[in-house]
Amino acid sequence: MTDYERKDIPGPDEDPKVSQLKDAPGEVPNELPHHSKFIDKHKILEKNATLLLVFSFLVVTIGGIVEIAPLFYLENTVEEVEGVRPYSPLELAGREIYVREGCYVCHSQMIRPMRDEVERYGHYSLAAESMYDHPFQWGSKRTGPDLARVGGRYSDEWHVDHFIDPQSVVPESVMPNYAFLLDRRVDPQQTAEVVATHAAVGVPYTEEMLEVAAQDVLTQVDPFGDVDALLERYPGAQVRNFDGQPGVSEMDALIAYLQMLGTLVDFSTFEADASR
Ligand code: HEC
Repeated sequence: MTDYERKDIPGPDEDPKVSQLKDAPGEVPNELPHHSKFIDKHKILEKNATLLLVFSFLVVTIGGIVEIAPLFYLENTVEEVEGVRPYSPLELAGREIYVREGCYVCHSQMIRPMRDEVERYGHYSLAAESMYDHPFQWGSKRTGPDLARVGGRYSDEWHVDHFIDPQSVVPESVMPNYAFLLDRRVDPQQTAEVVATHAAVGVPYTEEMLEVAAQDVLTQVDPFGDVDALLERYPGAQVRNFDGQPGVSEMDALIAYLQMLGTLVDFSTFEADASR
């Protein structure tokens, strides 16, 4: 027995939902109610490409705002993690050099939570670890290895040799040399201004940090300076003469930055809080 042989189900002739040629001569018959009220208006959109484009754009915009806007206001978009602190002035100067020289073109700073990456580079990157980065250095290209946890992996001397002549330590390396960084000085005053700029965009440097920023540049390469005060401001900062030469060179700054990368969070005690 087919459906319309049953008494309780109307055949096509009686079914109000079926429109046939004889109901509306000259129009294409369909199986929808012929002049259903609201949904019919959709035809206007479907038949007008420009209007359809405008309305699609509108829908996507509203959807986008609903999804993205709350992220700017939620307190817990970035879960704070113990140990993460604003960069010391010297580290920040190094970071500026990293950006200036385009190291991000060949190096990422973002370890993804996949087994091969975690086994090679260490614990996957946390959002908090780049919360003070303006702009962030996640990168999208790995001609060289990821650098998010390069801190402490090599000695300062290795880094100096590597920057002067990468092929001297890794013969097959395609990394260009950066020997000139040894001859360029870091300007403490200018670095203090970079620190102030980062404060202006929301990095929580205190008044005191801003005041002594220029001095802190010099202190971080001078083990005989006021190291305790520096460490109070920037816990875990490494204080030593990184390039082994007198003065504060761009090499000092860059190596101070690299040796800090990935060392701020203590992963022996860190536990991800899944409830957030
Ligand atoms: C043309 C691409 C390229 C550029 C630009 C580049 N690197 Fe590299 N880098 C490499 C390659 C390839 C390696 C791996 C071979 C080696 O160790 O030299 C590497 C290795 C490294 C390593 C050792 C990492 C490890 O875990 O072994 C560090 C540190 C490093 N680069 C820092 C930098 C910094 C800082 C800059 C910017 C001043 C920079 N690189 C610019 C390609 C590049």
